[in-house]
Amino acid sequence: MAANTNFEKYKSDGSIGGNVLEWVDARFPATSMWKGHLSEYYAPKNFNFWYFFGSLALLVLVLQIVTGIFLVMHFKPDASLNAAGVPVAFASVEYIMRDVPWGWLIRYMHSTGASAFFIVVFLHMFRGMLYGSYRKPRELIWLFGVGIFLCLMGEAFFGYLLPWGQMSFWGAQVIVNLFSAIPLIGPDLSVWLRGDFVVGDATLNRFFSFHVIAMPLVLIGLVAAHILALHEVGSNNPDGVEIKKLKDENGHPLDGIPFHPYYTVKDIVGVVVFLMVFSCVVFFAPEGGGYFLEYNNFIPADPLKTPPHIAPVWYFTPFYSILRAMVWPILGLDAKFWGVVAMGASVVIFAFLPWLDRSPVKSIRYRGPIYKTFLTLFVICFVILGYLGTQPPSYWGEKVSQVCSLIYFGFFLLMPWYSKVDKYTPEPERVTMK
Ligand code: HEM
Repeated sequence: MAANTNFEKYKSDGSIGGNVLEWVDARFPATSMWKGHLSEYYAPKNFNFWYFFGSLALLVLVLQIVTGIFLVMHFKPDASLNAAGVPVAFASVEYIMRDVPWGWLIRYMHSTGASAFFIVVFLHMFRGMLYGSYRKPRELIWLFGVGIFLCLMGEAFFGYLLPWGQMSFWGAQVIVNLFSAIPLIGPDLSVWLRGDFVVGDATLNRFFSFHVIAMPLVLIGLVAAHILALHEVGSNNPDGVEIKKLKDENGHPLDGIPFHPYYTVKDIVGVVVFLMVFSCVVFFAPEGGGYFLEYNNFIPADPLKTPPHIAPVWYFTPFYSILRAMVWPILGLDAKFWGVVAMGASVVIFAFLPWLDRSPVKSIRYRGPIYKTFLTLFVICFVILGYLGTQPPSYWGEKVSQVCSLIYFGFFLLMPWYSKVDKYTPEPERVTMK
């Protein structure tokens, strides 16, 4: 059943709208893009809860860009002290919060949006792992996704320095210092990245530039590529069945329905529920219990006073824990160096999933107990690592994070073996509607 949009009839009915559309279509592929990506893009009819998060990620991306534009109108990337002895950047954020009309709302939407982005993207990635959406022919969609995730991490890291609070300053100091662990070039590299011997005005200015223009440009480009790649091969679904294999006499997949209006309407339901939860956080708990906005960041940056406990924002902590778990020097190289390698590997390893997974089926519904156990253990370890990363270092914290890191990497590195030997049930011919 196609959506009820007869463009040809509309264009020839003599109305102003029809004439304008005809004029545009002769110069730009407006109607064909609408059809190809919405009204005649056939998506599997069995999408479930997990399929809300792609459109929600798009929504949050737009929210971040729009609120960001308004923040930049008032924010000043300047580390020098004002007449009251407060860094100008910090004071400009306070000015937004107290004096700019609705500034507090824009700022809280942006800061809550950062955490919401990671929650939505983590769930979106997990859906890919549940249903094997990274498998052939969707490897490129996944690779663009991993690129998006790396950019998102960069974007969040650069943005966090801007309010120039204690956590902004010391967090950036710790992370940029990690680069100095790289043999030979490390110390020079970290000076080059900071633009100074310590995090300072030059660092603030370049992070501002990356945060407001370089990273968003790359992010938007990658998201466009992500969706184009998806629409080239078509969506996967909770059964992991390829709907393009069985088509009706018009060439439409038997198990597909047009994205518009069916999924545009479904996604609006997701958007409404998301915005309700999002508004509750923005209006009633914008600090997110100290996880979304850390308490130490309400204190202006002070290069002479190191906070007793420096922790990154919650969405970096699983990876930060993996860094801290590496405590052994190997091959004469610093433990810190191996920590950086392990942390980088823990993110980049996602890119290899399409080639590590050798199961004959895609979806968790038809996989055997070994994969289910490994995926469950992976999720538990990811959460534990995330929690430990927010805590100060401790003996048991270190031991537990080492075990969890081992399981984390085991999930990926042992996958070629366990995904092959695991039991499975053959996929059905047609999608199921449970
Ligand atoms: C700004 C961030 C992102 C945006 C806006 C975004 C957007 C979308 C949209 C709109 C879809 C189609 C709807 C859906 O399947 O839910 C989709 C599908 C997909 N995305 Fe993303 N995405 C983002 C990040 C990621 C990341 C980080 C990954 C993985 C590393 C990823 C992997 C996938 C995969 C594999 C699919 C196909 C799913 C399927 O067909 O079952 N995406 N994405």
